[in-house]
Amino acid sequence: MKTIATISELKQVVASARAEGKTIGLVPTMGALHIGHLSLIKRACSECDFVVISVFVNPTQFNNPEDLRTYPRTLEADKKLIEDNTSAQVVFAPSVEEIYPEPDTRQFAFGPIAEVMEGEHRPGHFNGVAQIVSKLFMFVEPDKAYFGEKDFQQLAIIRKMVKDLDFKIQIVGCPIVRYMDGLAVSSRNALLQEDERAIAPIIQATLRRSVEEKQYEMTPSEVISWVTKTLNKIEHLEVEYYSIVDGLTLQPVNDWTDTDYVVGCITCYCGKVRLIDNITYKVSE
Ligand code: PAJ
Repeated sequence: MKTIATISELKQVVASARAEGKTIGLVPTMGALHIGHLSLIKRACSECDFVVISVFVNPTQFNNPEDLRTYPRTLEADKKLIEDNTSAQVVFAPSVEEIYPEPDTRQFAFGPIAEVMEGEHRPGHFNGVAQIVSKLFMFVEPDKAYFGEKDFQQLAIIRKMVKDLDFKIQIVGCPIVRYMDGLAVSSRNALLQEDERAIAPIIQATLRRSVEEKQYEMTPSEVISWVTKTLNKIEHLEVEYYSIVDGLTLQPVNDWTDTDYVVGCITCYCGKVRLIDNITYKVSE
């Protein structure tokens, strides 16, 4: 496996792989890799001949300087994890200056899907995500790019960007990897104190209860209140928002039958750590 820090070398190695007729897969990450990322990388390796993993903590998508400063950076461990567990060919780990020699002034407008949930609570976040992901797409021009369903809204926005900018790239959404106790695997879990880690699985357990029990006796807005109240009662947990939305448009649903793809998206603080997760509601006709 090769580690590359410059855009010119990245383009060269990808061009030679393509000249050999290989299909190219891209897995964008911010590092601090874990089994969630590995599932994307393994999927890419199983579907593409040549796989590039980018490891770059993208400053333009952080709206909180403290969050950017404390974001875990573990490149050596990341490389070892990839090498020991996958057959990926390239890790692209550039500096901030390499990616942004000048400030990126591009403004993306994705409309209503970007204005709710994370878009509302983290102004500028998705613009930063689109800046970096569009650059990576232009550098690598992959056949397929892999994103996790854990970042549900991000995945929807990337799909929209690909349509809007007419990138010839297939976006592959990959299922959320969880620990046995239900907590979604995340780089941010490392920032949890021991007692916070112990209660964090209650977030997914509560969403699951809302699907298995509450959905049948409550409207979506009642379920939102029930989830929010149930979690806020627990020490260390504080819900920033819980939204029940159409899985394609990301707009709130008033009734379970409004659409046949209903997803609940949550952002919940566990102590100082901002965790996100989601769940699909069963919708019967
Ligand atoms: P990062 O948080 O490092 O995540 C990289 C990819 O891994 C994302 O597509 C994310 O959805 C996926 N992922 C993370 N945890 C997962 C889990 N438990 N199960 C399945 N997939 C999981 O998301 C980003 O980085 C950045 O915004 C990025 C797209 C790289 C742009 O900077």
